[in-house]
Amino acid sequence: MKAAFVTATGTDIGKTYVTAGIIRALRGQGAQASAIKPVMSGYDPGRPEASDAGILLAAMGKPVTAATVAAISPWRYAAPLSPDMAAAREGRAISLPDILTFCRAAIRAAPGLMLVEGVGGALVPLDASRTVRDWIDSLQLPALLVAGTYLGTISHTLTAAEALLRQGGRIAAIVLSESAHSPVPPEETDASIQKFLPGIALHIIPRHFNHLSFQQLADFLARSCG
Ligand SMILES: Nc1ncnc2c1ncn2[C@@H]1O[C@H](COP(=O)(O)OP(=O)(O)OP(=O)(O)O)[C@@H](O)[C@H]1O
Ligand SMILES: [Mg+2]
Repeated sequence: MKAAFVTATGTDIGKTYVTAGIIRALRGQGAQASAIKPVMSGYDPGRPEASDAGILLAAMGKPVTAATVAAISPWRYAAPLSPDMAAAREGRAISLPDILTFCRAAIRAAPGLMLVEGVGGALVPLDASRTVRDWIDSLQLPALLVAGTYLGTISHTLTAAEALLRQGGRIAAIVLSESAHSPVPPEETDASIQKFLPGIALHIIPRHFNHLSFQQLADFLARSCG
C-alpha cells in the first residue's frame, strides 16, 4: 500500500492540479496511480467534468459520469463553502468515521499509489469539532502540502506545516505550485521556507513546461510513500 494525503495552505492553491499531474506522470511511466476526492463542496452535477473529481478521473483515464464521480467523491455538496457549512445547508452532516472507512477501503483496493485529495486547507472544519488535520492524522498518511508562490505564502506555508506536524503528523513534501502572480522566482520562496523546515523536501511545480517537475515529484512519491 502506498498512499499520501494532498492538502494545502488554503483553497484554490493547486491540490487538484498537482494530484492530476502526479497521476499523469506515473501513468505515463507505466505505473498505477489513482486518486479520491471524498468531500467536494461547490459541486455542480450539470458539469461533472469541471469538478475536482472529474479532473482526477480524466487524469486516471476514466470516463467522467455521475456514477464514476460518486464512486470517488461520495460527499458532494452544492454550496461553494467550507464543508461543514455546505453540509449544514443540505442537512447532511459529514461523518469523519464514514470518511475514514471509505478512504481505508479505497487505499486497500488501489493497485498503486493512492492520493487522497482533502478539501480546502489543512485546518478546514469538517464538523463542529474536527478539521482536515484530524482526517489526515486518523489515516496516518504522510501529507503532501501544496502551497503557492504568491506574496504571503511563506507565512501561510509555515503555519500549515506547523499545524500538520503538531499532533505527530508527517509531511512527505511541500509542493510549491507556482501562483499566477509571484513577487520573486519560486526558487527564492523555496529557499526561504527551507531555512525554517530543514528536514522537509520541497518541490516546485512551475506554471509552464512542468512535465519534468511532475516526473520528479512522482518519482519521489513513489519512492517515499509506503
Ligand atoms: N502550477 C500551476 N500551473 C498552472 N495552473 C495552476 C498551477 N497550480 C494551480 N493552478 C491552477 O489554479 C487553479 C486552482 O487550482 P486547483 O483547482 O488545483 O486548487 P485546489 O487546491 O484543488 O482547490 P480546492 O480547494 O477547490 O480543491 C486551477 O485553475 C489550476 O489549474
Ligand atoms: Mg481541488
